[in-house]
Amino acid sequence: MKIIKMERDHVPQIAGLEALCFPDPWSENSIATELANPLSCWLVAVDGDTVAGYVGSQTVIDETDMMNIAVHPDYRRRGIARQLVEALIHDLKLRGSHRLTLEVRTSNEAAQKLYESLGFTQIGLRKNYYRNPKEDALILTLPF
Ligand SMILES: CC(C)(COP(=O)(O)OP(=O)(O)OC[C@H]1O[C@@H](n2cnc3c(N)ncnc32)[C@H](O)[C@@H]1OP(=O)(O)O)[C@@H](O)C(=O)NCCC(=O)NCCS
Repeated sequence: MKIIKMERDHVPQIAGLEALCFPDPWSENSIATELANPLSCWLVAVDGDTVAGYVGSQTVIDETDMMNIAVHPDYRRRGIARQLVEALIHDLKLRGSHRLTLEVRTSNEAAQKLYESLGFTQIGLRKNYYRNPKEDALILTLPF
């Protein structure tokens, strides 16, 4: 398993994972647009030619928003999401970012446990942030 920067060839598999993991997935086109966005940093965990997981982020000045993270069900609980976030933080530090913030569904216990284990803390709650189904978001942040 290697963690590398997202390339054009990874985009269809990432879109497939989005559709598998989220009710409101990013399209292949929107993901591809991120390749040319200087504010964006997307990393993928690859097993040979297979994209096992990915994380996407955007940085404005010194603060980063983690927009999505997912690991294929066949690859979960092997530490891949943790490695993706740690690799992302490493790259963000080099870009001069000092904080990573994200939203997570109140029902998403697996993701909340992951973020808690990485040191994220809650700074807010966004009522009815998500659709399909409608749900509140916890806002978590990690300064570094
Ligand atoms: C959340 C998700 C990315 C975790 O990916 P993963 O590669 O399985 O996570 P890791 O193996 O790196 O887990 C790291 C830690 O997170 C916690 N964790 C992860 N999945 C968990 C689960 N299902 N239940 C409880 N804790 C969990 C554990 O503390 C775990 O450490 P441990 O295995 O040593 O106990 C994955 O479940 C996923 O893709 N879910 C669907 C998409 C999603 O919800 N994304 C988050 C949107 S905010």
